[in-house]
Formats: sequence, C-alpha cells, structure tokens
Amino acid sequence: MAVSETHLAIDRERSRQRIADAVAHLTGPAHTRSERAICRYAYTPEYRATLDWFIARLGELGFDTWEDPVGTLVAQNVPPGTPVLALGSHCDSNRNGGPWDGTLGVVIALEVCRLASEHGLDLPLRLISFLEEEGSGFGQMLLGSRICAHRVEEADLRERFRAIDDGRPFFEHAEEAGYEPARWKEAAGVLDDISAWVECHIEQGRVLQDASEQVGVIEAIAGYVHGDIEIAGRDDHAGATPMGMRVDALSVAAEVALELERLARDAGHGTVATIGEVEVEPGVINVVPGRVRVSLDVRGTHEPAFRGVVRDVARFASEAAARRGATASFGERQSVPATAMDPALVDALDRAAREAGAAYRRMPSGAAHDTMCVADRAPCGMVFVPCRDGISHAPDEEADPADAAVAAEIVLNALARLHGG
Ligand code: GLV
Ligand code: MN
Ligand code: MN
Repeated sequence: MAVSETHLAIDRERSRQRIADAVAHLTGPAHTRSERAICRYAYTPEYRATLDWFIARLGELGFDTWEDPVGTLVAQNVPPGTPVLALGSHCDSNRNGGPWDGTLGVVIALEVCRLASEHGLDLPLRLISFLEEEGSGFGQMLLGSRICAHRVEEADLRERFRAIDDGRPFFEHAEEAGYEPARWKEAAGVLDDISAWVECHIEQGRVLQDASEQVGVIEAIAGYVHGDIEIAGRDDHAGATPMGMRVDALSVAAEVALELERLARDAGHGTVATIGEVEVEPGVINVVPGRVRVSLDVRGTHEPAFRGVVRDVARFASEAAARRGATASFGERQSVPATAMDPALVDALDRAAREAGAAYRRMPSGAAHDTMCVADRAPCGMVFVPCRDGISHAPDEEADPADAAVAAEIVLNALARLHGG
C-alpha cells in the first residue's frame, strides 16, 4: 500500500496500552526526585535513568543513540548525513511537574518509530529528547534546544546560567556529569539534515477538553520574555518604624503585581503575564523588607502586545519605587519570539487528523516548546492532545493515552506522506 496516497490505520488499542505503560513507568521512584510531583532535571540520577530507559527502548528498535556535548539525546535509524524526519520533545519535568508534560512527546515519538517499523514503512527517522526544556535545573527554559540553535552565548553557559540547587555554573555541572560543554557549538549537529520536525505535547490548557476534541494542530507558538524586577528599599524595624517612614520593597512589588495583571489584560491578543517567583529579603517576620526580586513571565503570539507589557511594567516599577523612595530595575533573562509553524506541515497534519477521523482543531500554543528553536533550522509542526481541566505544571496533570495513540497515528501518516512526496 502506498501510504502517501492512503491513510494508514494503526492498532490504536495496542498503541494506547504501550503509551500508557511507558508514561506510568516513568512516574516511578527512579524517575522523580519528589514524593508528591514529577521532578527531574539535567544531570540528576532521575534524569539519567529516564534517558537510559529511552535509550534501551530505542536500541531494541535498532536505532543508534548518542548525546550531544551537553546531553540532548538523539536516536536515528539511518546513517549520519541522511535527510531525516525528526520528532520528539523533552523528558525533563517542571519542578512541580506531572507525568505528561514533555515526556508524552518523547513517548509518542518512540511509538511512531515503533509503528513505522511494524508497518514496514522504511522512514528515515530521528528522535530527539532535548535537555532542560523546563529550566528546572538552571532557571533557563528551552536550554538544550537554545544550545542546539546557538541562541546562547559561551559566557551564559560558563558563568551566567547557574544551578537553582547550588548556584554553580552550568558548565561545571555538565562537566561533572561527564559531558564536554566546551564543545557546545557542535550541538548544532542535532538539527542538521532535518526535512520535517513534529513535536507532540499535552495542550496545557482546556480548549480541546471543553470542545470534546482529541487533537490540536498547532499553527503558531506564543513568544515570551523571562526577566526579573529587583526592588531595593530599606531594612527597618517592623515595630519601631512608623508607616510613613518606611521604604518597603514588598509594597512596591505588590503594586507591580497588580499593574502587571492590568497591563496584560489590556494588551489583549491573548497576552498573559505571571509573577511566579518572589524573593523577599531579609525574609524575617519583624523586619520591613529591604529587597525583593519578582520574576516576570510575559507571553503572547502578538509581539508588540506582549513586549509592550514588559516595557510598561518595567517603567511602572521604577516610578512606583521612586514614589516610595526605593529603586527598581528590570533585567531580561531570555526572550524567544512568537514562532509560526510550517504551513505545508500544518496542512499535512491537518489532513492526517481529518483522515484519522479525529475531532480536531487548528490552534495556537500558549506554552513554549523546543520546536521554537528547531524552527530556525527545519519546517516544524506540533500536535496537542487534551489534558484534564487544562492542568499542567502540577502533579495532578492527567491525559488520556487513547488521544495520544490518535496523535501517533496522525504524525505517522503526516510524516509518511511527506516522505512519499
Ligand atoms: C514550558 O514549560 C513553558 O512554561 O511554556
Ligand atoms: Mn513541555
Ligand atoms: Mn512545561
């Protein structure tokens, strides 16, 4: 059967079971550092065990596997230098993660590789599991794929990016784990020879669930700015300092939090903004806080709208601080532009979804994905499956492996059709 002309139906129940088993296995104690959440990140034993599990499964399928100089996992069923259809995601987790974010995309990629072989499709495939998508180890989202895309500087890796756990630089940790970060530029090779890339992921919102749809075909991924606002006031005695004589950095931060919410609402275009980290110093009950750091996560598919929120909240922070005799400064950690998916790949995935008989829609992604960096080098597409009540970056994250099996069928068909011409 020429799969480029006819939709290939898979045994969905068999794929559902295999996907469910894999995801369940990777929630075991060897794969998480937390008793209440999934928590795994670069260079920890739990992350290593997870990579090793995928390496073993890919070896059983006859794939060659290797890791780039910092630890992004690559597996391929054709010799290096051959044009490939690539797929994957990340298998690190949020520090407060669930079983599905990232891991499901690698599990579906593995399933597609397996199905291609079982159906004798002879597709040239590369599976990639990017390092540190979540930023759980070093506070830097999409770190592995940004390294592959050369969207970092050497000084970032040697000095600026530091481990959340112990403050030591990324470089030191990578070396200790047996990698060669001095050769990080060679990670670009991970993205060589890719004629199409597809990442599957849970939606992390509730649009699909509420519409009773099984699959989303992604058209664009929201861009984002990550940064911090540092506010400097004055430490003072909490009892002896009258209200009119304080320079309370936390009061400035409180004004900033509410203004950020207002700005994001007013910006429209689906712009969202979050303060997820608050550091208060000295952090003592009977001391007026002299220093506060709040993180900023601002996102959207409309560049002027979300970048305008960052600009305006930074200005507001300085003004609000000045009104109270304090100072405030904004520093950017990183920013990634909104990223459109490849129209031909979107069409191929759309057609495969229709022919699979799935209830689906085209939609944007509010969350960030490694695909944003792959898009520098290859045509990209993404497929979402629903997650219960949209919950993600939380231990309660839940998805239905039956939807994931449909996604696997769609990706297999889209890639086979692209390959068949
Ligand atoms: C990725 O995990 C994100 O926060 O978008
Ligand atoms: Mn993810
Ligand atoms: Mn995530």
